[in-house]
Amino acid sequence: MSERATAVAHSNIALIKYWGKRDEGIALPATSSVSLTLDAYSTRTTVEWGRDTDTAELDGAPLAGEAGARVTRFLDLVRSLAGRSDGASVISRNTVPTAAGLASSASGFAALAAAASSAAGLDLAPRELSILARKGSGSAARSIFGDLAVWFAGDDDASSFAEPVTDPGLDLAMVVAVVDAGVKTISSRAAMRLTAETSPYFPAWVDASRTDFTDMLAAIAASDFTRVGELTESNAMRMHASMLGATPPVSYWQPDSVRVLHLVRDLRSTGIECYATMDAGPNVKILCQRRRMESVRDAVTAAGITRVTTSLPGPGVAVSRDDE
Ligand code: DP6
Repeated sequence: MSERATAVAHSNIALIKYWGKRDEGIALPATSSVSLTLDAYSTRTTVEWGRDTDTAELDGAPLAGEAGARVTRFLDLVRSLAGRSDGASVISRNTVPTAAGLASSASGFAALAAAASSAAGLDLAPRELSILARKGSGSAARSIFGDLAVWFAGDDDASSFAEPVTDPGLDLAMVVAVVDAGVKTISSRAAMRLTAETSPYFPAWVDASRTDFTDMLAAIAASDFTRVGELTESNAMRMHASMLGATPPVSYWQPDSVRVLHLVRDLRSTGIECYATMDAGPNVKILCQRRRMESVRDAVTAAGITRVTTSLPGPGVAVSRDDE
C-alpha cells in the first residue's frame, strides 16, 4: 500500500495578529489571534513516506539550507507521533509568492501537516492537526480551518490551537495590493523575536492586542463590519509600531505601501468602506464587504498598483490518501 497523501491548504490573513512567542520551543504565541482564510492563495503538497532520507521541493526547486532543515524538523514531529523512522519526499506547489508576506508559511505548513500525517497513517482530528501545524509555523494553525478562525494562545501545547469562528453574515472579502512580491528582507520569525527581545513597545502591543482580540470576537458575533474593520486596521498598525521600536528597527513598508494606506482612508471618506492590514512584507491587504470588492480593486489599480488580487473567504485544509 502506498503511503502517500496530497493536501491543499489556503493561506490566511490575520485580522488580529500573532506577533511574538511566549515559548519558542513549542511555538506558543504571546497573544491569541483571529484570521480570514483566503480562496486566492493556496499550497498543494504531496508527501510520500518510505524513503531513505527526506527530500523536499517547492515549485520545482529543491528546498536547501534552513528551509529544507525546517521541513525535516517538522517531519521529525510526524515521525515521533507515528512511531516511524523512515524518510519522506515532499513535493509542494504554491500559488502564493513564497515568503513575501502573503502567508505562504501558513498554507505551506498546514498542507504539510495534513499530507505528512495522513500519509503516515495518522488520523488526526482538526484540533490535533492545528496543534501540529502550529509547530511548523504559528499562523499555519489557523489555515486548517476555512473562513474566520480563532487561534487561542493557550498556556501549554495542548491548549494552543485554532478553531472556526461562526461568521453571522459579515460577507467579507479581501483585496490584496501586491506592492512587491520579492522575498522579504527579514523573516517574520526573526522579526518577531527581535521585537519581543528589544522593543520597549512589545509589552504594550501584547496588552493592546489582548483587548483587541476580545473586542474582535464581540464585533464578529454582532456582525458589526465597521467595528471588525476598525479593529483590523488598528491592530495591524499597533503590530508595526511595536516593530519600529526594535533595535535595530524593523520596517517592511515601502512608499507604495503608504500610498495604499492613504488610499484606503480616502476611499472610506467617499463612502467605500474598507480597512487595511499589513503583515511581514510591504503588501497591503484591504478588508471590505463583497459588494465593495470591485470598487476597491479598481481604485487600487487606478492608483498605479499593477498587481491586485481579489479574494473571498477560502476553505479549510483538504487531504486525500492516494490509495483511497
Ligand atoms: C505578521 O506564522 O510566519 O503574518 O510561527 O515564526 O513561523 P512563525 O511565524 P509566522 O508569523 C506570522 C506573522 C504575521 C501575523 C499573523 O499571521 O498573525
